[in-house]
Amino acid sequence: MGEINRREFIKSAAIGGAVLGIAGVNLHDPLKASASGKYDIGQCKSVRVKCVSELGRLEQLQIGEINKLYEGCAAVAFDLPIVIRVRGEQSLYFNVKDKGLVCVTGCCHQNILTTAEFVRQKIAGGEKLYGVYGGLHIAPFGPLQEEGEKIVKGMAKFNFQKVACNHCTGLPAVQKMIDLGYPVVQGSGRYGSKSKLYVGNGDEVIFA
Ligand SMILES: [Fe+2]
Repeated sequence: MGEINRREFIKSAAIGGAVLGIAGVNLHDPLKASASGKYDIGQCKSVRVKCVSELGRLEQLQIGEINKLYEGCAAVAFDLPIVIRVRGEQSLYFNVKDKGLVCVTGCCHQNILTTAEFVRQKIAGGEKLYGVYGGLHIAPFGPLQEEGEKIVKGMAKFNFQKVACNHCTGLPAVQKMIDLGYPVVQGSGRYGSKSKLYVGNGDEVIFA
């Protein structure tokens, strides 16, 4: 497998309101764990994420393997049922120099606590989580239930410095995060997004 040019990667990764897809990229061989049991994905200077709607070819990843895409960026697939005939979910991890790890979750059916714990345990530097971007899938269709509330409260221990969540997080979950004093990034409420309280369609977030 060959390396991917960062510019080419940006053309290939699409993040919709709730879904992350990596299409047509040439992945590195999966990383090998270091002596500490963690994976060193390198460092990048910054990450800029824009919420768009795209369709593309899906690149299948081996479950649980850490695929370094370019310096400071890796992709991981989780295995779990999503909806009928759809299984598994991809996510991206960026190690931003002097800041910490950023999780780009996709639709986050595995839930943000599982994701954050994965980073802490598997990726070098993961004990310092800087930010999260993505649909967090906590209350996508209605009020915040007990399980969802547990997830929101559980996020506190990871001490994210920037929480940029979009649609499938659910407005009640976002409101709860704001009530708890989490650093939630607000959006513009454009292009059909329901609220300015969260990052929506066409909004861009920079982790730097
Ligand atoms: Fe979701």
